[in-house]
Amino acid sequence: MILRAAVFLFAAALVAQASAAVTAVQTPAQKRTTRDRVYTKEQASRGGPQYTKLCESCHNPAKVPAGKKPGPPTVGAEFLETWKDRSLGELLTLVRTTMPNDGSAFLDEDETADIVAYVLQLNGFPDGPTPLKEDAAANNIFIVK
Ligand code: HEC
Repeated sequence: MILRAAVFLFAAALVAQASAAVTAVQTPAQKRTTRDRVYTKEQASRGGPQYTKLCESCHNPAKVPAGKKPGPPTVGAEFLETWKDRSLGELLTLVRTTMPNDGSAFLDEDETADIVAYVLQLNGFPDGPTPLKEDAAANNIFIVK
């Protein structure tokens, strides 16, 4: 009887410790949004010409050649509706691994961050002092309308 009580207490202590550990891990991961100045002006100005060169032929309706099927918008209400509450980490990974989707270029992480910074600027989000990076923090930055 005493032994069983001891085992029970031990198990309860383990559970308490495990949930304390989970809380400790969750607290420092700070949630931010695209309004919290999450890219630099320098990134956006590097990304602009790249976006023009590598993305606009499919994503700027004014520049899509006649007869070519355009990609979905990357600027404006429709883009923000599709992406709201999704993370910048997801957007960065999608762009880096699937765009441009005609194999005309392969982007590395820095080039992708520059282009996504420019896309954020086009959508009216403010720049700030810290560069955007495809890392764990980016998974906690959420796109808002
Ligand atoms: C050859 C045409 C083409 C080029 C060039 C291209 N895209 Fe795309 N893009 C598409 C198409 C088509 C889709 C939708 C289907 C898919 O995912 O393949 C898409 C989807 C996307 C999406 C997801 C949109 C959504 O609402 O889900 C993003 C973001 C995006 N592209 C960004 C870019 C960026 C940034 C570049 C330049 C580095 C780029 N694309 C270059 C054709 C293109």
